[in-house]
Amino acid sequence: MGKKPFIVGNWKMNLTLAEGVEFAKSLGNNLHGKNEIMCGICPPFIFLKDISKVLEGSGICMGAQNIHSEINGAYTGEISALMVKEAGCTHVLIGHSERRHLFGEIDSFINAKIKTALSVNLKPIFCIGETLNEREEGRTKYVVKKQLKNGLMGIDNKCVEELVIAYEPVWAIGTGKTASPEQANEVHSFIRGFLTDEYGKDIANSVYIQYGGSVKPENTKELIAQTEIDGLLVGGASIKLESFLKIIDAASIQ
Ligand code: 13P
Repeated sequence: MGKKPFIVGNWKMNLTLAEGVEFAKSLGNNLHGKNEIMCGICPPFIFLKDISKVLEGSGICMGAQNIHSEINGAYTGEISALMVKEAGCTHVLIGHSERRHLFGEIDSFINAKIKTALSVNLKPIFCIGETLNEREEGRTKYVVKKQLKNGLMGIDNKCVEELVIAYEPVWAIGTGKTASPEQANEVHSFIRGFLTDEYGKDIANSVYIQYGGSVKPENTKELIAQTEIDGLLVGGASIKLESFLKIIDAASIQ
């Protein structure tokens, strides 16, 4: 599609602050002048402010791993879109499968979070994907379509353009089992088709669709070579600088 690959590392609940800061510094140094790729990292909330300072001027963007759907209020323990924006985030992961499956987040809550993120100019990285059961029962497209429809309900065309969609099959996350490039591309095409039907070809083509689930240096090239894969959302392999850099390198050479 002629887009620059967008590679994002989701650190989840890993690393110490000192390790995270060191990682961000080295990442910035290593990517200096590398213009053929876009890169981002999603550190834990409490690292955001420090890491944002380190990333300043590097061209690497920063995302939060979650937000609440309300901008403020009595929500003990939660973090708002404005807070992560103030800490330097441009992006936010919304609807990650770990949030859906471990913390019971449902489509309507995810939809509200996407709307809130957009309202403060944070770009959502909207995560969707089927479980192993759902795939084995042949329900992948049904599930993905339902997540898209519910997650994007009431969001206008202009805002949809701002989104990144991450297709992360749940059975491939943290399991070492990657979807084959063809399996991933098939679902990506389906997502693109959905966006085309709902919002038109131009918007559908401008939306970034990332793949996530056991991405590693060895499978990056093949995944990113697929016509409908515009980027990658990397978990485990993004918390080691060496493997994350290898992924970025492999994605840059096309
Ligand atoms: P892994 O790369 O560890 O499978 O995790 C993927 C993921 O959940 C990224 O958001």
